[in-house]
Amino acid sequence: MFAISAKNLTKSYDGRTFALNDLSLDIPQGGVFGFLGPNGAGKTTTVKLLTGLLKPTKGECRVLDLAPEKNPCEVHRLCGVMTETARMYGQLTGMQNLVFFAQAFGMSKEACNQRGAELLKELDLWDARDKKLSAYSTGMEQRLSLARALINRPQVLFLDEPTSGLDPESAQAVNALITALAKNTGTTVFLCTHQLRYAQDICSNYGIIEKGSLLAAGDLPTLCKNIGLQIKAGFRLTEGDTLEGFTADNGWWQTEVKTEQDMPQLLKKIIESGHDVFEARLVKPTLEDVYFGYVERQGVLQ
Ligand SMILES: Nc1ncnc2c1ncn2[C@@H]1O[C@H](COP(=O)(O)OP(=O)(O)OP(=O)(O)O)[C@@H](O)[C@H]1O
Ligand SMILES: [Mg+2]
Repeated sequence: MFAISAKNLTKSYDGRTFALNDLSLDIPQGGVFGFLGPNGAGKTTTVKLLTGLLKPTKGECRVLDLAPEKNPCEVHRLCGVMTETARMYGQLTGMQNLVFFAQAFGMSKEACNQRGAELLKELDLWDARDKKLSAYSTGMEQRLSLARALINRPQVLFLDEPTSGLDPESAQAVNALITALAKNTGTTVFLCTHQLRYAQDICSNYGIIEKGSLLAAGDLPTLCKNIGLQIKAGFRLTEGDTLEGFTADNGWWQTEVKTEQDMPQLLKKIIESGHDVFEARLVKPTLEDVYFGYVERQGVLQ
């Protein structure tokens, strides 16, 4: 059973243009899936369809083998959702908000308090637990939304830009929490984000979407391979020394290699041919390279 699957999932808000066009995707259980794309690409629309907040114009989707459109309550019981627009109660304190939402899941009073306290501590909100939400800063409110999404220990967690309003320290803490969740509890995380550097640290697989169309999906090595991005091996030699078949780049002699396993052999060959090597490095394509590779290529094809 996949954690999430979509087949030809399509959404048009106005009947003319497609916010999401023919999305087909299977996401296995466990791990963090990074859903990447520019503003207006269709990420939030996808989350809303997968959580039953919107009905598809065409196609279908399943979350833990349940159709969100038909079983929204069951999907919400097993999932957690944090969207940009999720609102809680300003007149209630942080703790009261969490207890309120925990009760909605039928948890006992004691379990609500315990889980609420646990999450407030984990998200560094314990000192603000008795403050009204209306007095929280944007970043604090965002962290409380994440706590709310986690209250029922979800099997699938949908996060729509969970770190966009957070300072670097809080963002790092939230990313560590997401990583630990996926690793220790087997939670599947569907993460929409623009923050590619963070995404590369915490995601195991990716989907890249633009203008409602999925451009690519897979892990980083697969995406690199499909777009022709390769690992480069670089060597810094005695000044004036040259390496035939390599390209010069700012004092480094570079060549493409298939895998990093090629490096020792290459280094040995260069030394054995009489060169002095002062530094050697591997330059791997980043998620940013991959993302812009796909998004820009799409621009050229249109
Ligand atoms: N309620 C709505 N009514 C009409 N059009 C909408 C609605 N919500 C989204 N859209 C349109 O659907 C498209 C996809 O929007 P969506 O919010 O899914 O993008 P996104 O990838 O989440 O963007 P962002 O990175 O800015 O959050 C956009 O063209 C947007 O204008
Ligand atoms: Mg969005």
